Amino acid sequence: MSEKYKNEKYKSDKNIEDKNIEDKNIIDKNIIDARDLYFSYDDNKSYAIRGLSLRVKEGRRVAVMGANGSGKSTFFLALNGINKLSKGTLIIDGEEIKYDKKSLMKVRSKVGIVFQDPEKQLFSASVRQEISFGALNMGMSDKMTREAVEEICTKLSITPYIDKATHALSGGQKKQVSIADVLVMNPKIVILDEPFSSLDPKHADLVKEAIDILVKENVTVMISTHDPDFAYSWADEIVVIDDGKVIAHASPEEVFSNDDIMDKANIKKPTIVEFCDKLSKAGKIPENIYPRTIDEIIGILTQ
Ligand SMILES: Nc1ncnc2c1ncn2[C@@H]1O[C@H](COP(=O)(O)OP(=O)(O)OP(=O)(O)O)[C@@H](O)[C@H]1O
Ligand SMILES: [Mg+2]
Repeated sequence: MSEKYKNEKYKSDKNIEDKNIEDKNIIDKNIIDARDLYFSYDDNKSYAIRGLSLRVKEGRRVAVMGANGSGKSTFFLALNGINKLSKGTLIIDGEEIKYDKKSLMKVRSKVGIVFQDPEKQLFSASVRQEISFGALNMGMSDKMTREAVEEICTKLSITPYIDKATHALSGGQKKQVSIADVLVMNPKIVILDEPFSSLDPKHADLVKEAIDILVKENVTVMISTHDPDFAYSWADEIVVIDDGKVIAHASPEEVFSNDDIMDKANIKKPTIVEFCDKLSKAGKIPENIYPRTIDEIIGILTQ
């Protein structure tokens, strides 16, 4: 095959590929479209978010990473209108965010946020009341609410303390209840701000299972985390925030092979990636392959 033909063929294949990506973009809608956002805690003297842009397609699993104080929680709270933007355009599910009561009600029914600090989220006297509140507020009937609450409490193993007072729960139990608070309302976008930081492995797994069910139902899930192993194994895409803006939005493989980005955002390499780097340096596996699990590594080693 001549070089010229090969180049032409490459170009035409590439055009088909580009066209496919274009068509897919039309089909896969952007559920979040944030354009050049600014948010200030001090009357525009300084900005905790400055020039943040991000597009997320519906049904994706997105891990949000970045150093302490980089603006992850501030951005999350802008997504449902709690943090009112100073500048920029934010479009959620095709509608630009506005701050009148009706628009806020609507966006909050679509975007459910589990706060980093459950103390800021829980306000009802008992666990059952707490989890029922949001569902009732959204207009669910008493019967439907009761069923939805029972179901989520069983899924997350909350049932043993469903009738306890919220103030009497442990830190991890409060976190579980705040997650149930959001999941019971079936929002289109679920945002969890460091959900696993206070959960034991069993309860973290229950939350992950509940999230997996949501993703199968095309719910978009964004999770902020400082845990590279979780982000690497779970996410479809990783957003890295630094100094109030997005500095990378790419696949886990791309982010975790980019030392500059990781240095800038205080992100460590996942253990599996570190292990594969060493195996490939020792000539045991090919370079630039990124298995996500130990079983996948074993598969490659025993091929
Ligand atoms: N309620 C607040 N009032 C004033 N400044 C705040 C407030 N909350 C956050 N900030 C500031 O905004 C910036 C971004 O903070 P944010 O909490 O969004 O960071 P983060 O990325 O979520 O960090 P972490 O990983 O520690 O949770 C920081 O400089 C922080 O000090
Ligand atoms: Mg935070």
